Amino acid sequence: MAPIPLVDVKAQYAPLMPELLERVRDVMDSAEFILGPNVGAFEREAAEFLGVPETIGVANGTDALVLVLDAMGIGPGDEVICPAFTFYATAESIARRGATPVFADIDASTMNLDPADVAERITSRTKAIMPVHLFGRPAALQELASLGVPLIEDAAQAFGSPDIGRVGVSSTFSFYPTKNLFAFGDGGLVAANDEELGHRVRLLRFHGSRDKVDFELVGYNSRLDELQAAVLRVFLRQLPQWTQQRREAAARYSELGLGELCECPPDEPGHVYHLFVCRSPERDRILAALKEAEIGTAVYYSTPSHLQPALRHLGYEPGSLPETERVARENFSVPLWAGIDAATQERVVEVVRSAAAVAAR
Ligand SMILES: Cc1ncc(COP(=O)(O)O)c(C=O)c1O
Repeated sequence: MAPIPLVDVKAQYAPLMPELLERVRDVMDSAEFILGPNVGAFEREAAEFLGVPETIGVANGTDALVLVLDAMGIGPGDEVICPAFTFYATAESIARRGATPVFADIDASTMNLDPADVAERITSRTKAIMPVHLFGRPAALQELASLGVPLIEDAAQAFGSPDIGRVGVSSTFSFYPTKNLFAFGDGGLVAANDEELGHRVRLLRFHGSRDKVDFELVGYNSRLDELQAAVLRVFLRQLPQWTQQRREAAARYSELGLGELCECPPDEPGHVYHLFVCRSPERDRILAALKEAEIGTAVYYSTPSHLQPALRHLGYEPGSLPETERVARENFSVPLWAGIDAATQERVVEVVRSAAAVAAR
């Protein structure tokens, strides 16, 4: 039997090839490669899609976080609370600004920040909370917002969820090629709910200048590429259908009984299933069976950010964040992309079932 990949982005964009090639050719014909009309149009279309006043295209999702923190004046002496169970870039962006990432534990059932644990870590130095909408599942935004600290939403994995991007002062996105909305390379976006913040991010992405003559801030060179913006405009129109297909695939895993074999993400409004990440104490046995059957699988954040060598000076030890560490030990993902077919999903569930049956013996 043919191997099954974890994600198949090519299957998603193959039907759009003629249009994509035309849009790329248009950019080449125009010879406007930097901050051209496609970046501006994509920023407006993305703002409308997200229901936010303004978006700013930047080079990647990591820069998006750094630029927002910089625009908010967050730096040395400041603390920002974030999860450790996320891609390292979340905490790295805070450290990059010279501020201190303060790690709060997650709720194992959602894999997102636990608002009660966040509340206990707020100090007079806390300048922001950075929740991550992990694997496409919205974090507990209302509860976090009620703590009275500005929220910066790391929405790198959750473009397309109607529930995110409007509660925080700002939200950030990545267009890395496996994301729900992706580019043919790196790309990122800042959505700003505050005019002054948006203005500063716009300046910062281009050396702190609006006209290449006067430089008002010490900034960055972090622009969304014009070619990527042209591609993203095509994909943005496709996104509602892709999100619907992801939701259907997630529901199909439930119908096939995967939830009886391991803990699966629930059917929840707003969840856009960037990845389908499950949990089981028998994780290693299931992983081995999936690999043996040549079915794509992955483990996420096996060394969570609080235990990464670069952040050792922060003083966290194994056991500091028990739920984070438990989920890091127990998680694994199964294949999911927009358009995955039922037969493929059935094969995945069969293999997990056989591994679970061995474990139960
Ligand atoms: C939660 C999270 N934050 C930030 C990033 C960084 O985005 P990028 O890779 O575009 O810099 C990612 C990307 O993988 C991510 O998953």
